[in-house]
Amino acid sequence: MDKLFIVSFLGLLIAVHGVAGNMLYDKIVMLEELESLDIEEDNEVELFDVPFLTSERGGKVLVNVDSFGAVGDGVSDDTQAFVNAWNTTCSTVNSVFFVPPGRSYLVKATKFKGPCADKLIIQIDGTIVAPDEPNNWDPKSLRNWLSFSKLNGVLFQGHGVIDGSGSKWWASSCKKNKTNPCRGAPTALTIDSSSAVRVKGLTIQNSQQMNFVISRCQSVRVSEVLVSSPGDSPNTDGIHITESTNVVLQDCKIGTGDDCVSIVNGSSGIKMKRLFCGPGHGISIGSLGKDNSTGIVTKVVLDTAFISETANGLRIKTWQGGSGYVRGVRFENVRMENVANPIIIDQFYCDSPKSCQNQTAAVQISQIMYRNISGTTKSSKAMKFACSDTVPCNNIVLSNVNLERKDGTVETYCNSAQGFGYGIVHPSADCLNSQDKDTMFAEPRSDDIVHTEHCLNSQDKDTMLAEPRSDDIVHTEL
Ligand SMILES: *[C@@H]1O[C@H](CO)[C@@H](O)[C@H](O)[C@H]1NC(C)=O
Ligand SMILES: *[C@@H]1O[C@H](CO)[C@@H](O)[C@H](O)[C@H]1NC(C)=O
Ligand SMILES: *[C@@H]1O[C@H](CO)[C@@H](O)[C@H](O)[C@H]1NC(C)=O
Ligand SMILES: *[C@@H]1O[C@H](CO)[C@@H](O)[C@H](O)[C@H]1NC(C)=O
Ligand SMILES: *[C@@H]1O[C@H](CO)[C@@H](O)[C@H](O)[C@H]1NC(C)=O
Ligand SMILES: *[C@@H]1O[C@H](CO)[C@@H](O)[C@H](O)[C@H]1NC(C)=O
Repeated sequence: MDKLFIVSFLGLLIAVHGVAGNMLYDKIVMLEELESLDIEEDNEVELFDVPFLTSERGGKVLVNVDSFGAVGDGVSDDTQAFVNAWNTTCSTVNSVFFVPPGRSYLVKATKFKGPCADKLIIQIDGTIVAPDEPNNWDPKSLRNWLSFSKLNGVLFQGHGVIDGSGSKWWASSCKKNKTNPCRGAPTALTIDSSSAVRVKGLTIQNSQQMNFVISRCQSVRVSEVLVSSPGDSPNTDGIHITESTNVVLQDCKIGTGDDCVSIVNGSSGIKMKRLFCGPGHGISIGSLGKDNSTGIVTKVVLDTAFISETANGLRIKTWQGGSGYVRGVRFENVRMENVANPIIIDQFYCDSPKSCQNQTAAVQISQIMYRNISGTTKSSKAMKFACSDTVPCNNIVLSNVNLERKDGTVETYCNSAQGFGYGIVHPSADCLNSQDKDTMFAEPRSDDIVHTEHCLNSQDKDTMLAEPRSDDIVHTEL
């Protein structure tokens, strides 16, 4: 969108509201930042993008799990063969940990630890399957199945499949049957405490819980990864990013029973390009702030996505009582199809069997842009900005948003949310600027201050109470 337009748009605002010049200047700076927000895609990790292994392998040392006694019949336990092959791979420069095609290797919970020798490639062309019985799972590794850590400069690639065999885990989840105890389940693939990581072409499916977790990493590139778990499998997030910086996900297709991508605390510089999501719960920042924790997520860009048949489209979710902030997010060029909550900020998130009390503290949400977002919504509230009464959301920017519903009834819900739109905004989001005028034109402040003075909002409580219950904000995944 053209800057001139923004400037004249804000010029109009200034004329109407008579705002002081330097406040307007801050707004323009904020808008320019949001419009141009980008995540550096350095080439550091490209160094490892060697052509597919030829017979000569360009001087690479091939470490085939079969040479270490792996059977690959899907029944024999190949864990020790994988551990031994890893040990050799990790200590050999220029080596390739190779899982050959055409076979299925049963591997129990395993930690593949670095640091390793330089130029490591993990080539997975066959299938790796997890034992399917939760009762026999190693209690020391309840949250991980295949876990890679402390690697610096590594390429995961191949046409293979990582299959968590999760169906018994799902059935034993408390979300499936309330009489089950609530307990964690393993993540299929974890890459932890690593840098310069590339993951290309793999399929991760049927995870016990989250499919793929990137934690405490720097400089990660994930491309052409397919994630697939049934739409009703509990908590099977597609790609979960935590405490990681400079991560690019591109050309991925993700269908699961939970978030397509979830980005949580300590993450910054996250870019997503050309994603296909559905079924599942959509693309999420959060949840953040659970149990009064601090959650910080900054600089997130989603450019080009198709989101189909999901519970949410673009979501930011935070618990009552948290602290920290989400700041500097741009969602753009997104097409939605039959999504229940296409655009949603939910600061009353409560994914717990117990109800959650409202509190005065909350994770602060500001500088969130939605640009060129279109498609169809299942619920009438195509846009929901449900923000904390004591810590309002501010600088929500909508530009060229067009969300339709079959019967034509669409609306925007705001609670304690401030922002503005330009270009087409349908349904109208006037409720973003019908809030307290002081809030709207206030100077950006330190995000650590709790803005109790902004808790006024112009919504009439009676109208709110009269609202139909059926379309109320979904606060829970239960
Ligand atoms: C790994 O290999 C080294 C030799 O390279 C050996 O000393 C060590 O015992 C091996 N560790 C395991 C767990 O096999
Ligand atoms: C839930 O689990 C209990 C105890 O295992 C079982 O008796 C019951 O049939 C289950 N309910 C459903 C709906 O599966
Ligand atoms: C949030 O992330 C920061 C930065 O990585 C970390 O130091 C902190 O412990 C994390 N907080 C929680 C509650 O996980
Ligand atoms: C969070 O803080 C509130 C208010 O101080 C307190 O009542 C509540 O017990 C805290 N919750 C947890 C999980 O620490
Ligand atoms: C808007 O987003 C759609 C869907 O991703 C895309 O096809 C289209 O080219 C975008 N329009 C502009 C003007 O960028
Ligand atoms: C929390 O506050 C929101 C916004 O004011 C309100 O809609 C909701 O009913 C409150 N929830 C509880 C449990 O009090």
